[in-house]
Amino acid sequence: MPVKRPAPGDLEPIETASRDEITALQIARLRATLQRATLQRAYEHVPHYRRAFDARGVHPEDLRTLADLAKFPFTVKSDLRDNYPFGMFAVPREQVARIHASSGTTGKPTVVGYTLQDIDTWADLVARSIRAAGGRPGDMVHVSYGYGLFTGGLGAHYGAERAGCTVIPVSGGQTEKQVQLIVDFKPDIIMVTPSYMQVIIEQFERQGLSAKDSSLKVGIFGAEPWTEAMRRDIEAKVGLDAVDIYGLSEVMGPGVASECVESKDGPVIWEDHFYPEIIDPDTGALLADGEEGELVFTSLSKQAMPIVRYRTRDLTRLLPPTSRAFRRMGKIVGRSDDMLIVRGVNLFPTQVEEIVLAHERLSGLYQLHLRREGPLDELEVHCELQPHASASEAERQAIATWVQQRMKTLIGISASVRVFDPDAIERTQTGKARRVVDTRPKT
Ligand code: DLL
Repeated sequence: MPVKRPAPGDLEPIETASRDEITALQIARLRATLQRATLQRAYEHVPHYRRAFDARGVHPEDLRTLADLAKFPFTVKSDLRDNYPFGMFAVPREQVARIHASSGTTGKPTVVGYTLQDIDTWADLVARSIRAAGGRPGDMVHVSYGYGLFTGGLGAHYGAERAGCTVIPVSGGQTEKQVQLIVDFKPDIIMVTPSYMQVIIEQFERQGLSAKDSSLKVGIFGAEPWTEAMRRDIEAKVGLDAVDIYGLSEVMGPGVASECVESKDGPVIWEDHFYPEIIDPDTGALLADGEEGELVFTSLSKQAMPIVRYRTRDLTRLLPPTSRAFRRMGKIVGRSDDMLIVRGVNLFPTQVEEIVLAHERLSGLYQLHLRREGPLDELEVHCELQPHASASEAERQAIATWVQQRMKTLIGISASVRVFDPDAIERTQTGKARRVVDTRPKT
């Protein structure tokens, strides 16, 4: 099916296509990607894929139906690192129009590349995401995702331009200025990490203003896990519709999937460009739709860096279509490598977020501190009072006990809880919040 650029504000035909049409397009694109592009480009030009396919005894021509994809090897982050910096590119470097990179927790960044056509597709998909969020041509979009090697800023920027919006490329940081520009320019939409949105909301309050009086009608939040509790909190404090945008640099950047404002029921995966699978993170076995596991993506249209069965480490489920013809993903529960194991119990920071946000006297910012005391793991939850609030020692103790008891009953973990003054928890200035400080010796 030819994919035409829609008139501004309209849905693209593929967004309302039948499942058969989508499957046909995916097969055609997968074949093209894996057989023509990957066979001729990746297989010939990316030694990693040739080695990995050969080792598995599979050849791109073995892909005849979507189910055949399961025969192909996974790609993992260390494959990109091992081929640092440009070894995963399937086109000559001269045809790469842009490089992005994401910094990992260790060592070298993960490098990704885009042809001009890749950037064009990316802009189309972020524009589609903005329309799904309710954005329309002429809207003003304040972009606080970081610009630079991170895909957030430039990805959002090109998409907002493509959607016919007026873009304010603020980037992250300088929170006072963020507030000033929102007050003065009156943007309709903000694109930012949810944790930095919390910091912006606080800054409004610090300046004696209320974010609720701002012009913002839609927030397009992503780049880190966030919960339904956080959605309710931000929506109530700013009076906007908060939707979830998902993506990762290895697959493209923001806009691999994005939520529709009319249903707010999980990001719709733009399946005409990315083929999703869910696998068991331990065995790699394919799981059925609806089952929770690790999300895996194969790109269907990328030129510079086609990616085959990339293991995202993100844990979620595939859900049936609702507002669009494509399948959705559940909100990301956490990353399999973000999962903490505390005295044998699995814990995701988002579970603590739900609890902290449920207490009206807490600001919603939190940090988990883990240390080893003798043979035992000790978990200490740091949270803080709402801006300008104060509390007696007894009141703090009561709040701490409340959090502690909910953690015990809902998660099954004993933790000590400390309730700090407003502003005590480290603020993210540029994007993703640091939710965990783990000083346990590595085993
Ligand atoms: O964070 C791309 C992005 C920018 C997405 C702006 C959305 C908005 P990376 O830095 O490569 O790329 O990090 C990707 O961030 O594997 C997830 O673990 C996490 N992540 C991204 N979006 C979401 C989301 C960008 N909506 C990693 N919910 C991914 C939960 C998310 N986690």
